[in-house]
Amino acid sequence: MGGPNLIVVDDHDALSGAGAAFVADVIRERPAASVVVATGRTPMGLYADLAARVRAGRCDPSRITAIQLDEYLGLGPDDRRSLFGWMRRSFLGPLGIEDERVVRLPLDGDLGQACVAFDRELEARGGLDLAILGLGPNGHLGFNEPPSEPSAHTRRVRLSPVTIEANARYWGSVADVPTEAVTLGLGPLLSARTILLVVSGEAKHGIVHRALEGPVGPEVPASFLQDAPDVTVVVDRAAWGDA
Ligand code: PGA
Repeated sequence: MGGPNLIVVDDHDALSGAGAAFVADVIRERPAASVVVATGRTPMGLYADLAARVRAGRCDPSRITAIQLDEYLGLGPDDRRSLFGWMRRSFLGPLGIEDERVVRLPLDGDLGQACVAFDRELEARGGLDLAILGLGPNGHLGFNEPPSEPSAHTRRVRLSPVTIEANARYWGSVADVPTEAVTLGLGPLLSARTILLVVSGEAKHGIVHRALEGPVGPEVPASFLQDAPDVTVVVDRAAWGDA
């Protein structure tokens, strides 16, 4: 248990290449891996690079199962803000992953019950093999907003003002960002066999150091990565700094 394995790269392009190589290696070792797929700006280049490897015949993701990380509540099926739509455009489509190989979060009915069933289903599948995650400006993973306990289940959450502000850039204005979501819980995420965290840009400098070097606790949910079994962090120089 030496803590996360840190890879500092020059820039976002290098992050995408290193991240894609890492994911391709995991898929080579575990062709039927259950893979959690984050949306957000940071992993987009990684997914594009991975798709290029697939087209070139250097990676075969046809047997993986893609697991949704988080989703807003209260959107219609065709809403442009849907994170599933973003996952489809950036990952499932380019990698040719069929719908039956995707596990989606519950969004309606008795959500409490449905989230318990969702976590049970993950367990029945043998847990998560790989979680590809970004880092929120407030230290969240998925929508596990601070404070989140490391045992937190998959659940309905209220988004924090920091997250709403950060996501406003995708949807136009703060008023456009839904206020509630469902997130895969920190508990199942931290139990993933392998976790890849990608962090890019100067704005993440403070939070990436708090997450990896600060006290471990619910106020910075990503700090629990310090105690998770197999974590690799690929961070660019803008985020990490010269330290
Ligand atoms: P970003 O999002 O990759 O767009 O910075 C990360 C997150 O909020 O989890």
